[in-house]
Amino acid sequence: MDKSEWEIAWSNFLSVDVAEMDDEHRQFIARVNELNRAIVEIEDKATVARAMDLMLMEAARHFKHEEQLLARWNYPETAAHAAKHAELTAQFDRTVKEFAATDISFVWALKGLHIKQLLVGHLLNEDMKYRDFLRAQGTPRGS
Ligand SMILES: [Fe+2]
Ligand SMILES: [Fe+2]
Repeated sequence: MDKSEWEIAWSNFLSVDVAEMDDEHRQFIARVNELNRAIVEIEDKATVARAMDLMLMEAARHFKHEEQLLARWNYPETAAHAAKHAELTAQFDRTVKEFAATDISFVWALKGLHIKQLLVGHLLNEDMKYRDFLRAQGTPRGS
């Protein structure tokens, strides 16, 4: 299969203008691509599960880190953003359980794609809101 059909490439339009968040998002996208590669190449279930676990562990760490920064920046939607992270984490947990419960590789592909959509959707729809907030403030923020 042509890689470009499913691989996500990092590009500047994904940047939130905060280097350490961009680094984590970039890492994230690399994990999403690894998960997809494992699914597309129909790796065994343990390999797909490992890729999924790794991605979710990093997601959990990233969410916590991002929430700390949002609070430090006095981002007015910090609590709402943290609630979105909690919602995503609950959806991930559900998806991983559904994944574990099936041995049908077609279903794994759906579960993997679902996680990818949730993560990328959050980056594009929610994380971009704090980028816009920081831009409106006019000063570049570090940690
Ligand atoms: Fe976020
Ligand atoms: Fe994020």
